[in-house]
Amino acid sequence: MTQDELKTLVGQAALNYVEPGSIVGVGTGSTVNKFIDALAGIKHTLAGAVSSSVESTDRLQALGIRVFDAADVEELAVYIDGADEIDHAGYMIKGGGAALTREKIVAAQSRKFVCIADESKWVATLGHYPLPVEIIPMATRRIVREFAALGGSATVRLKNGKPLLTDNGQHILDVTGLKISDPLAFECRVNQWPGVVTVGVFALHKASVCLLGTASGVKTLTF
Ligand code: 5RP
Repeated sequence: MTQDELKTLVGQAALNYVEPGSIVGVGTGSTVNKFIDALAGIKHTLAGAVSSSVESTDRLQALGIRVFDAADVEELAVYIDGADEIDHAGYMIKGGGAALTREKIVAAQSRKFVCIADESKWVATLGHYPLPVEIIPMATRRIVREFAALGGSATVRLKNGKPLLTDNGQHILDVTGLKISDPLAFECRVNQWPGVVTVGVFALHKASVCLLGTASGVKTLTF
């Protein structure tokens, strides 16, 4: 199976976690887009969705699915999102699509995080994928130095030759060269640096379940 077919498979499998009549939390990315496509088939059973990005909101609304503001919803039963890397404990790197801040907010208001991923995302230790970090631009130089002290090399993500602006109007640093052996401690540490909006390590808000697309079908891993 191709990577695209594996994404379709896990996107469809995630429908099993959507409770009838509920508002579902929806992440961002190409795997989640497959989930949104699948969601269209059951949209009449849904109250609606809370979305983690303008991109996902646009897709949901185009399919006629009502999108609620996260601030107007107390709690969600489930949040479905992809990952750039996921490990044996359900810790993840996220933010390849620059939506990490809103993703972490929606994950935090959800009782269950279902990660949908093809098997290329499965890793022994986080850190091979460049770590996305959303930052306030005036703090860039200092945060780059902080990562250098940890052995990382941080660069500002560009779009059309200019710093990419997130949905929150901030910048993204992508950090290579890190081996994140203690994701919880790492997330807590980086969270404290002034100017960091969100670090793309999801350890405090890790996956509860991972639907992993493999050549032999969807594996359900619980953490
Ligand atoms: C977006 C994310 C995505 O979940 C992550 O980048 C995976 O994306 P894809 O499903 O396209 O591989 O964190 O900010």
